[in-house]
Amino acid sequence: MDLLTKTLFLCLALALANGAPAPGADEEADAHVAVPDRCEGIEFDAITPDEKGTTFFFKGCHVWKGFHGPAQLSNEVFKELSGINHSHVDAAFRMHNTENTDVHDHIFFFQGDKVFSYYNHTLEDGYPKQIQEQFPGIPSHLDAAVECPRGECTADSVLFFKGHDVHVYDISTKQVKTKNWPHLPVCTSVLRWLEHYYCFHGHNFTRFNPVSGVVNGTYPKDARNYFMKCPNFGHGSHSMVPKCSDIKIDAITTDDAGKTYLFRGPMYMRLDTHRDGLHPFQITRTWKELTNGVDAVFSFMDKIYMIKVEL
Ligand SMILES: *[C@@H]1O[C@H](CO)[C@@H](O)[C@H](O)[C@H]1NC(C)=O
Ligand SMILES: *[C@@H]1O[C@H](CO)[C@@H](O)[C@H](O)[C@H]1NC(C)=O
Ligand SMILES: *[C@@H]1O[C@H](CO)[C@@H](O)[C@H](O)[C@H]1NC(C)=O
Ligand SMILES: *[C@@H]1O[C@H](CO)[C@@H](O)[C@H](O)[C@H]1NC(C)=O
Repeated sequence: MDLLTKTLFLCLALALANGAPAPGADEEADAHVAVPDRCEGIEFDAITPDEKGTTFFFKGCHVWKGFHGPAQLSNEVFKELSGINHSHVDAAFRMHNTENTDVHDHIFFFQGDKVFSYYNHTLEDGYPKQIQEQFPGIPSHLDAAVECPRGECTADSVLFFKGHDVHVYDISTKQVKTKNWPHLPVCTSVLRWLEHYYCFHGHNFTRFNPVSGVVNGTYPKDARNYFMKCPNFGHGSHSMVPKCSDIKIDAITTDDAGKTYLFRGPMYMRLDTHRDGLHPFQITRTWKELTNGVDAVFSFMDKIYMIKVEL
């Protein structure tokens, strides 16, 4: 991505963070009476990003696109999906394997004993298939699935969840290793987001290590405080979001590990994680002392140097 594109993305991400209603929100609310409200506390069937980094949350025949806005019918977004047997999605994940361009960034949905592959929101020829035809050794009637790239898992893998069993599918060798993580709640959906792994259960979620299953920290947490914009939830982050025309970047840097950070006022954003969408965070979330933003930033020998001129 060139810098201009990144800047436009930043603009868009900041605008979304501002809580602008999704286009078409009004018509949607009128058209369907029993549209579920995710702020009431929903147990999702599946959660997955698409190839553009937009996260989709599925429940019954409805889907929410991104972290705010109302539900719509899932077969309006992924045609053919809930039309089949009127059943809900059991699990979904986005394929990350960059070596095999045939499936890279395809979204796989699981319903009963069938798997559906979508690219560009279009069902691929030859689908649905039997799950075992595409993923030998993986059971039907799954609870959840998530991508796990090499570096985070030992090999490029997909984790398939059923009860307390986790089937770790190696994408290149097609070998399956089954683990049992009884300490983790039964996940009805699992999301990899910004290099972390989240098991959703009820309206809560629990972050876990994708290799060991270890849960570190205080969980469960209420998903409404983190993964959706709900009145009376969250951390009051509605402030300070500028208009697109006012956006001016203070600093941008890439560290030795390839992480690219962009700074603007009190916010920062990672640009290298655009496959998960671009999300602005308070600078103080990561660098507690930087309460006044930055003037310049550079990376040198494994360190990031941040410059703020105090007048
Ligand atoms: C739909 O139902 C039929 C009959 O019960 C079954 O054979 C078929 O596998 C189901 N399809 C899916 C995608 O679950
Ligand atoms: C994606 O789908 C849209 C509309 O369905 C179509 O106009 C576009 O050409 C497709 N893009 C690719 C890369 O296939
Ligand atoms: C959610 O977590 C809270 C504790 O944070 C717990 O009291 C509650 O029972 C959990 N609810 C569900 C549906 O998992
Ligand atoms: C748990 O978190 C603490 C503090 O963030 C960290 O020092 C520790 O290494 C973590 N342990 C595991 C097993 O991830």
